[in-house]
Amino acid sequence: MATCYRNIASLVSPAAAVGELIVITDAAMVVENGQVSWLGKDSDAPSCETEVDLMGKTVIPGFVDSHSHLVFGGERSEEFASRMNGEKYQAGGIKSTVAATRNATAADLRSNTAMLVQEFYASGITTFEIKSGYGLDVETEKLSLEIASEFTDEVTFLGAHVVPSGSDPDQYTDLVAGEMLKSIKAKWVDVFCDKGAFSVAQARKVLTAGIAAGLKPRMHANQLSNIGAIALAVELDCASVDHCTFLDDDDIELLRNSNTVATLLPGAEFSTRSIYPQGGKLMNAGVVVALATDCNPGSSFTTSMPFCIAVAVRDMGFSVDQAIWAATKGGAMALRGNRGVLEVGVRADFVVLDAPNHIYLAYRPGVAIISQTFLQGRKVYERR
Ligand code: NIG
Ligand code: FE
Repeated sequence: MATCYRNIASLVSPAAAVGELIVITDAAMVVENGQVSWLGKDSDAPSCETEVDLMGKTVIPGFVDSHSHLVFGGERSEEFASRMNGEKYQAGGIKSTVAATRNATAADLRSNTAMLVQEFYASGITTFEIKSGYGLDVETEKLSLEIASEFTDEVTFLGAHVVPSGSDPDQYTDLVAGEMLKSIKAKWVDVFCDKGAFSVAQARKVLTAGIAAGLKPRMHANQLSNIGAIALAVELDCASVDHCTFLDDDDIELLRNSNTVATLLPGAEFSTRSIYPQGGKLMNAGVVVALATDCNPGSSFTTSMPFCIAVAVRDMGFSVDQAIWAATKGGAMALRGNRGVLEVGVRADFVVLDAPNHIYLAYRPGVAIISQTFLQGRKVYERR
């Protein structure tokens, strides 16, 4: 059955060109069997069995969040408050969530993840990646990935998040690259390659073992320092290298000539009171950039992509169009997929904004302008 969404003030989709959007004003869109079957000017709309009047709202593709850590126990609000009083963020904070995750029941981990997925829908996210990385032992990493796979196909093994307390770094790296990798199922393999986490040599070991086991590589890097991780990410053809807070000119040149997306995580800089990387500058230099929430209880406890867009525009040198491109098509490219656009034949994953145009995503920070979220044409969220 075809449904025609009529009277759309602005229908927005990212162009192939990095950072550019295609906007049709006074538009309509037809959805059939979970796919977009027609879009164009409202005056040209075909007649359909069902018509929905969107009364001058805006339609954009669902956001693609290529970086999240939704499976965890506990919370770290006190750590956040201390940071806002001047404490520094350190990779070691992850260990307190590891303890809480190991102590949680599977049912608790699952229901916490489900609640955060609902928040994703409410923020307009329709495709999302979920990482493990708060188990750091074979059993809890395996369980975390099983829970993640109940919610998404984009499941990432992050056994190499930090070295757990009491473990020797090289022995733990061997465990991740050996027994742990053999015991788990995931699509992606990730490593946190930074000061206080894993060295470039250790990251290489984990990623090459993951690739040999059939997983595809991605990395956390250059969040706290620059230890030369970007060259490794590009050499191994990582789909994405995430954080990129500290990049030098050589890193930018390497990324520009690669298929590796630079994924920026505004929530992390916001919540760790760090400097913001200049994403607009990267995009203008020809680097493909994605924006993601990095939702986790330590460095970025937000599920709001509109918040990330607003910060990117306000403080990271993105134009509004660049930020929305990065949160849709950029995220899809960071997952080497083809989501994040509204074109004939694609999945009808879309968001209705209570706004006359997409600029409102940054213009009205902190305001719930996501009116409805659709997954394959099915409404999964409606603002009350
Ligand atoms: O992406 N950088 C490493 N991992 C997470 C932080 C996790 C935590 O602090 O619990 C991140 O920011
Ligand atoms: Fe992360």
